[in-house]
Amino acid sequence: MHVQALELSHYRNYRHLAIELDPYLNVFVGDNAQGKTNLVESVYLLATGRSHRTYRDAEVIRWGEEEAQIRAQVQTALGSFSMRVILSRNQRKRFWVGGEELRRQSDLLGFLNVTMFSPDDLQLVKGSPSQRRQFIDLNLAQVSKVYRHDLVSYSKVLEQRNNLLKQMAERKARADLLNLWDEQLIHFGSQIMHRRAAAIQRIAEHAAASHMRISGGEEKLTVHYQPFYLGSGSNVLSDSSSLEKIRDQFTKALERSRSHELRRGTTLVGPQRDDILFQIDGKDARQFASQGQQRTVVLATKLAELEFMGEEVGEYPTLLLDDVLSELDGFRRTAFLETIGGKVQTLLTTTDIEDCQLDHVPCRREYTIVEGQLSLEG
Ligand SMILES: Nc1ncnc2c1ncn2[C@@H]1O[C@H](COP(=O)(O)OP(=O)(O)OP(=O)(O)O)[C@@H](O)[C@H]1O
Ligand SMILES: [Mg+2]
Repeated sequence: MHVQALELSHYRNYRHLAIELDPYLNVFVGDNAQGKTNLVESVYLLATGRSHRTYRDAEVIRWGEEEAQIRAQVQTALGSFSMRVILSRNQRKRFWVGGEELRRQSDLLGFLNVTMFSPDDLQLVKGSPSQRRQFIDLNLAQVSKVYRHDLVSYSKVLEQRNNLLKQMAERKARADLLNLWDEQLIHFGSQIMHRRAAAIQRIAEHAAASHMRISGGEEKLTVHYQPFYLGSGSNVLSDSSSLEKIRDQFTKALERSRSHELRRGTTLVGPQRDDILFQIDGKDARQFASQGQQRTVVLATKLAELEFMGEEVGEYPTLLLDDVLSELDGFRRTAFLETIGGKVQTLLTTTDIEDCQLDHVPCRREYTIVEGQLSLEG
């Protein structure tokens, strides 16, 4: 799938912008603070319903304006359709696909799939577990409607259960009410975990293969799902392949933590505590990988993400590559660009055009950005 055209109004430092995009490679060159990240952020927001760098929607509205708008024409194997989002200072965000307004933000996922790769993602291995959960969640939520539904249901149940636990801790609610929520927590939670396990296994296979290529076959990358009941830092790998086993472990963990939860007044177990473990030659990459090794792992994982989403949907997502080439050395850069070239729509930003020696990559459009104004090169 790809974005054919993009239009911004009062978005960040863009007053008005209307551009056409190449189905493959689009390069945006500009100095610092000209609007490169803002541009890829807008596409991410249109695709996922939120910015990758802020939770406060009003931040993306151009200073002094009341409303920002992002519009795009998107082409997929199923046809071409329009997408639109309006963000305003005083009202909730509104989304349209093919001219029809969507009821919920979560309904937006799956129309335009995207993968973001920015310098922040280089923290994927060493950063917090929540960053790794977000990684897998966004992947799965974009390709699976069932997963989206389970995530929404789970978070509702979790919230209700937490409210109840809080009241119980303050002796304002009866303890037997908890069983009702436990059942649902286990139901939706196990479905989420089962899907995560399967997806991570597939991503792991692709990641190992790309890693082999990028690292010159010297090192072996393994990626494992680490369900919450194993505890962080655990090297013991469990069999999460069966839904029954997961339900069983979840139920036991819930029983074990019951008294603790009642004291603390909050839910202490569940997929909101899952993690992903990266190992190089069997050693935990969080602890032992050098900077360069971490970069290679992240790069391989990002490529694996593209392959996974591509397989699931039958089309590659649009890749948003913000300022990341300069972070990679020549060899990794070439390996990366060769892999995506000619098959994935890419919006690539850079301060230095020299960073992308892309002569072998077909079809490219190059824009220069100066203070929120774009001009097409060549
Ligand atoms: N709501 C807003 N309204 C107007 N301008 C904004 C708004 N939010 C951010 N900006 C401005 O947009 C400018 C460009 O930001 P952006 O992050 O896109 O730069 P960039 O080209 O990616 O730079 P760098 O190379 O440093 O990453 C910044 O100078 C910032 O002050
Ligand atoms: Mg930037």
